Amino acid sequence: MEKYAMPEGYNFIQSLWRTYKQVKDPIGAMEESMEQFNGTYSVNLGTRRLIATQDPGFIDHVLKSNHKNYHKSAIQTEELGKFLGKGLLTSNGDYWLKQRRLIQPGFHIEKIHALYSIIKKTVDDFLVEFPEGKVDVYPHLHKLAFEIVINSLFNIQVPLETRNKLNEFINEVQAFVIKDLRQPYKSWWFRLSGEVARNLERAKGARDVIRDIINTRRQSTDKFNDLLDMLLSVRYEDTGEPMQEDQVIDEILIVLIAGHETTANALSWTLYLLANHPAERQQLKEATKDLNVIQSVASDPLAAVIKESMRLYPPAWISDRVALNDDSYNGFTFPKGSIIILFYYGLHRDEKHWQEASAFNPGRFLKANEDKSKTKTYYPFGGGPRLCIGNNFAMAEMAIFLQAMIHQFEIAPTSEHPLLRPLVTLRPTRVMLNINRKQ
Ligand code: HEM
Repeated sequence: MEKYAMPEGYNFIQSLWRTYKQVKDPIGAMEESMEQFNGTYSVNLGTRRLIATQDPGFIDHVLKSNHKNYHKSAIQTEELGKFLGKGLLTSNGDYWLKQRRLIQPGFHIEKIHALYSIIKKTVDDFLVEFPEGKVDVYPHLHKLAFEIVINSLFNIQVPLETRNKLNEFINEVQAFVIKDLRQPYKSWWFRLSGEVARNLERAKGARDVIRDIINTRRQSTDKFNDLLDMLLSVRYEDTGEPMQEDQVIDEILIVLIAGHETTANALSWTLYLLANHPAERQQLKEATKDLNVIQSVASDPLAAVIKESMRLYPPAWISDRVALNDDSYNGFTFPKGSIIILFYYGLHRDEKHWQEASAFNPGRFLKANEDKSKTKTYYPFGGGPRLCIGNNFAMAEMAIFLQAMIHQFEIAPTSEHPLLRPLVTLRPTRVMLNINRKQ
């Protein structure tokens, strides 16, 4: 007799077939299963039990009300940590808490004000060069998001060679981790063929580059008002000591990786949606004429458009947690070690919780229409103690960019529509738009 009352779902053989389908079309396969099992289902992979859910109560239970019973999975921590080190995103437990307490104040909305001028300058320089005509905006926005993060970390002229080295490292390690995750049966080959070693070597190269920047900074008495200043100046509450150099490097690599592709995705989907919704685009332009940077960051209509875009296309479309002890939720019981997959994409488009869920309607996020229950059905930045630490930063940079973009350029659709590429983040395929600079 099964000791646990797992949610309905797939037996072992069916689970193998599901896994195959899931690799081919992750979102389509999950949507189909969610429909069949009413929002929560189990997958049985022998020793490994998975529960996938888009039930807001279950997600709240895992992320918030019973968060102490959950850690991030080994994929998100140890696997990624092999290349990126042990920073906020890739750690669990006491070490994570210690780092979070240390770093969180530096990302407080008041603190990141100092970064707005860096962000604005990066956006302005970027828009001067923005191409016109029929353009795939994704690679450009990817580059912009990377530049914003690099400039906010190191408010200095980082030489092009160094930037390229870091960019290359981030992109290649990320591509490799995805490959490794999608083809776990080839892990032995990746080790044997030297691919793992090559990526570890790249990681070392990136760490050395950052170490040099830190050492130069330490010799300077100037204030740079950037994230590196913040990371070097924070002190642990109990000891009064700063972070060790390698810890600072770990956190820098994490900010680089966590802070650029998510933003690039959100911006690309937002431009795509605005291009394809002329009425909303026009309304936004009228509501945001002549705003300065501080006003853009505070702008309700800009935030509403970005939030609605991340509802439809959450850059972090999925996450997971592992149960540390046996647990139960709403009549289900499951053993310790169960992996809970949180399907934010499905929840954000669930008609049970969102009226006309597939429509682009930024109005639903205007403050006047605010509905407190949304906090339980909307997770673009995750939730609970592990809420994205860069959420205010991300909202600010996106608002500053969007304000400048829609007032400097005419944006129109093309006949080509991007497809979903759900890798670690929800990337679009090409985002072809017609872009013309206003005279
Ligand atoms: C639109 C942009 C962004 C989105 C959608 C996003 C989303 C997320 C989500 C969903 C998580 C939680 C993951 C989980 O619970 O499993 C997270 C964590 C994190 N994000 Fe972001 N993020 C964005 C931008 C940024 C930026 C700009 C930074 C840094 C400047 C950043 C730094 C981090 C870090 C360090 C964590 C780990 C926090 C922890 O575990 O304590 N993110 N992000």
